[in-house]
Amino acid sequence: MKVRQIQFVHFRNHRAFTFEPGDGLNIIYGSNGSGKTTILEGIHYCALTKSFLSIYDSEFVTYGKTFFLINGLFVNVKEKLTSIKVTYSRDTGKQVSVNTRNVPTFSEHVGTVPCITFSPADILIVNGAPAERRRFLDKAISQMDVKYLQALIQYRRLLQQRNALLLLIRDRQADQNVLDILTEQLVEKAAIIVYARREFIEGIMPCVISKLRIVSGGENPSLTYRCTFQNDDDVPHKDSMANHLFGHLKARRSEEIARGQTAAGPHRDDILFALDEKEIKKYASQGQKRTFIISLKLALYDYFQEHQKEKPICLLDDLFSELDSKRVSALLSILADFGQTLITSTEKRTASYINSVNIHDLI
Ligand SMILES: Nc1ncnc2c1ncn2[C@@H]1O[C@H](COP(=O)(O)OP(=O)(O)OP(=O)(O)O)[C@@H](O)[C@H]1O
Ligand SMILES: [Mg+2]
Repeated sequence: MKVRQIQFVHFRNHRAFTFEPGDGLNIIYGSNGSGKTTILEGIHYCALTKSFLSIYDSEFVTYGKTFFLINGLFVNVKEKLTSIKVTYSRDTGKQVSVNTRNVPTFSEHVGTVPCITFSPADILIVNGAPAERRRFLDKAISQMDVKYLQALIQYRRLLQQRNALLLLIRDRQADQNVLDILTEQLVEKAAIIVYARREFIEGIMPCVISKLRIVSGGENPSLTYRCTFQNDDDVPHKDSMANHLFGHLKARRSEEIARGQTAAGPHRDDILFALDEKEIKKYASQGQKRTFIISLKLALYDYFQEHQKEKPICLLDDLFSELDSKRVSALLSILADFGQTLITSTEKRTASYINSVNIHDLI
């Protein structure tokens, strides 16, 4: 997939802006605050109906204005054009349309424009709480597997209902029989999610290893799914996973009722990242952490391409900062073989295979 053209009206500092990126590796350079990240944000809005940095659409409306508009023209591997329009107004909220057809449910649109992002804020995937790592998994798998996204949405709803019910049971306002019914529905969705996550990690691991070896010159990563209801060496088969979680929750029922919270399941799971068998969060340097996360993101490229038969668009914000020159060259050598890539940087970089764009020539 490629972006042919992207247009903004009242989108942060871009009041009326049009950009046509090249097909391969684009580096958008310019001074701080000139609106480079905002360009990537706009493309991300078209692909995933939201920003990769903020949860508030209203922040993107140019100061003093009441709405923003993003118009993106995309082309897939079969040269088919898709026009995606995202509008947000303070009065009527957000609307997304694809080839002028309104998209009523945004989750329906996810995955149609495969896209990979990296931003310096992704350091949280390593340094942050388990929720950050789950977010990484969920975002990646949802783009490839619409059933996963549906299971996730249903799981979250059931989890909320179950936690509310646990509180009612604690306060003697509900019966435990209803809990079994809700638990059965919950564990069924949980099994879909955990199975897909394990499969994804297994599938992506060889790509992460090979990318990191190239960029770092030899570091060896590992990714291990940490499940709250299974031991690593005792993973039940897909079909028995739901039963396993059901049994686990049953055994912890009194604790669950006392706390009013579901004690285990994909909402509590985590991934352990290690470099040469040492936990990255605790031992790796800043640059090593960054390189690891970038390799993780680049590994998604191979994985998406294999699953969707479509090269994802790579949006890499401030990719080079904190990396030594060897790592930067190695990264560029990988990206030279990718599909369309947009990198933002404060410094100009030139090479025969780079389309170098000064943002000040665009605005
Ligand atoms: N709602 C808004 N309306 C108008 N301008 C805004 C709004 N929100 C942010 N800005 C400004 O728009 C610009 C957005 O910049 P952006 O983050 O895209 O810059 P950048 O080129 O990526 O900078 P850096 O090199 O520092 O990362 C900033 O100057 C910011 O102050
Ligand atoms: Mg920026």
